[in-house]
Amino acid sequence: MNHQITTLFTETQVLERVAALAAEMAPRLEPEPIVLGLLKGALVFTADMLRALSRQGVKPLLDCMALASYGKGTISSGSIQVRMDNTLDLAGRQVLLLDDILDSGNTMSFAVQRLRDKGAAHILTCVLLDKPSRRQVSFAADFVGFTIPDTFVVGYGIDYAEHHRELPQVAACVPLGKGIS
Ligand code: IMP
Ligand code: MG
Repeated sequence: MNHQITTLFTETQVLERVAALAAEMAPRLEPEPIVLGLLKGALVFTADMLRALSRQGVKPLLDCMALASYGKGTISSGSIQVRMDNTLDLAGRQVLLLDDILDSGNTMSFAVQRLRDKGAAHILTCVLLDKPSRRQVSFAADFVGFTIPDTFVVGYGIDYAEHHRELPQVAACVPLGKGIS
């Protein structure tokens, strides 16, 4: 695929930020919260956060949910579909909801409402990346890794058309014009 990949945050910077977020969040977490990651984008973030929380003495239970937002290209439509539901009973539990990127806000708003509907007693939200300039619905995450401008990013679990999830760093991904390689 013809793209220019430019590192925004190195693997070391990302892992240091994840460790710092875990340290920030630990005092607000119960001893055994449910950490719920949104697939597939937050898979890598969730895996690292789970272990970073362990280093802070937290003993989280892991859950996942896969949501899809329908829209053309990279524009969110606001219509969210549940592709794969979570499996743990959330009733009365503290849930730490993780996603890779907070963009229009549609995905996180939908997910928080769904967790409430399932009876979660207390919900905290954390995103690795926040693009506040692209918000369509009002939503603020409780914890943010990095605030970034309106740039399309890949790596660390985040994809462009399913590519580049394997990159250890977070990178900007700019499509090159046709005929340029
Ligand atoms: P929202 O519903 O518009 O807030 O979108 C959040 C979801 O859109 C994230 O979970 C990502 O999966 C996806 N997304 C938003 N921005 C990007 C990007 O720059 N690269 C890849 N995926 C993105
Ligand atoms: Mg996503």
